Amino acid sequence: MVLPVTAYGHPVLRKVAKEIDKDYPRLDEFIENMFETMYHSDGIGLAAPQVNKSIRIFIIDATPYQDEMPEAEGFKKVFLNPTIVEEEGDEKMMSEGCLSIPGIREDVSRPPKVHIQYYDRDWNFRDEWYEGMLARIIQHEYDHLEGTLFTDKLSTMRKTMLRTRLSNISKGKVDVDYKMIFPFEKKGKK
Ligand code: NI
Repeated sequence: MVLPVTAYGHPVLRKVAKEIDKDYPRLDEFIENMFETMYHSDGIGLAAPQVNKSIRIFIIDATPYQDEMPEAEGFKKVFLNPTIVEEEGDEKMMSEGCLSIPGIREDVSRPPKVHIQYYDRDWNFRDEWYEGMLARIIQHEYDHLEGTLFTDKLSTMRKTMLRTRLSNISKGKVDVDYKMIFPFEKKGKK
């Protein structure tokens, strides 16, 4: 089932998400719904708060990009209860977008290497390092679990320039071809 995506301004995107345990009800079904939602909106990653659940899960499927990015080959993963242990290297700028912030792409500065611990879909503990594009996607999705959005990391000037567009997104005044929950949409007209 495709779920609606929470838009910029939704309070769930600002919460620190909670850990889950193995008994979390219908976890498998929820993960399947996350994948369906991500594919439906042509995303490469999706975090649970983006489908209005404040729990520590994100998913990534980088395989559609494996022609441009060899490290993306076979990279389809579920991250349960992840923790970024450390990040390393001199920060690099890379363009980012977000399904919760449609139509906006900006260069964001982040360290190029990330050390992450998490549980996979079968609850096996994983301890891994990533770099390049995969590290970037992991950092972006992980931020969602901490209540952070990529626009928070922009310069004051860029934030000021984007203020109206961000406010419009929160009101539903944006062209988007997947279903969203707009926190400040005026009901009754669109
Ligand atoms: Ni995002």
